[in-house]
Amino acid sequence: MSPPHEVGAPDQYGLVGHPVAHSWSPFIHGMFAKAAAQNLIYRLFDIPPDDFRRETLRLMTGGIRGLNVTLPHKQAAAELVNELTPRAARAGAVNTIAFFENTTLLGDNTDGVGLIADLERNLGIDLADKRVLILGAGGAARGAVGPLLERELRSLTVANRTPFKARKLAAEFADMGPIAGCTFADVAGPPFDLIVNATSASLQGEMPALPDDLVSESTICYDMAYGRGDTPFTRWAASRHARRTSKGWGMLVEQAAESFLLWRGIRPGTEPVLAALAQIE
Ligand code: ATR
Repeated sequence: MSPPHEVGAPDQYGLVGHPVAHSWSPFIHGMFAKAAAQNLIYRLFDIPPDDFRRETLRLMTGGIRGLNVTLPHKQAAAELVNELTPRAARAGAVNTIAFFENTTLLGDNTDGVGLIADLERNLGIDLADKRVLILGAGGAARGAVGPLLERELRSLTVANRTPFKARKLAAEFADMGPIAGCTFADVAGPPFDLIVNATSASLQGEMPALPDDLVSESTICYDMAYGRGDTPFTRWAASRHARRTSKGWGMLVEQAAESFLLWRGIRPGTEPVLAALAQIE
């Protein structure tokens, strides 16, 4: 008689950020794991910037198999890992770390593909030849710029509170397409086809001060931030009669599915998770 099948301890994954308490990632990865019959747990680790390197290495030596990384650590994570995927190297920002053989830390960036999947597949937006404005030049914006430019945009404007960072980001990606960086006040119309908020201003309940003529009734406004109800950005967009506003739930779920693929070799279906999250809106 063969011995009963033993179920081992679950593989451990998690999210490092500061703050992380608002995160839906444990719920999302929990649904993925159940659907894909994967024995894993996913926890939240609130780690302030000064402790990021030490605590992340401690988690790794403690047996964690993979981590998602959120603000403000995405660029520090790119410095920490031993290897970068080409898209993470290009972005200079990492939102997913896989620990292979407990010795190699591979850094990836699934934010951009997650955003594109949500825009194209879930929202039905055709990006080709569109004028796009992205607000912010931090880790989240860095992940999005390359995949957006791959879609043959007419132009991509990066606007940031600290204009130097927007110009630097634009210069880094200038070989990929028409991209320019500026400060918020210097963004020039005519109205954009798509405006993406990649700042963390919403976390402070703020909305960057932008010129008035950037939104028309055909503009789509996408906030990478998510949560129940309106954000300062979606309120701003609605007050200017944007065609459509969307929050970052879909991007969150799609980037999580890409992380899951890197860790487990399976890309879980995202529809059931999107449907579950739509219930809590
Ligand atoms: P993330 O990983 O979410 O991009 P980050 O790397 O800390 O986090 O970047 C945060 C982004 O939000 C930056 O572009 C930041 O602008 P600065 O480069 O000038 O710091 C932007 N940001 C944060 N708070 C903001 C606010 N209140 N108004 C406008 N922009 C803000």
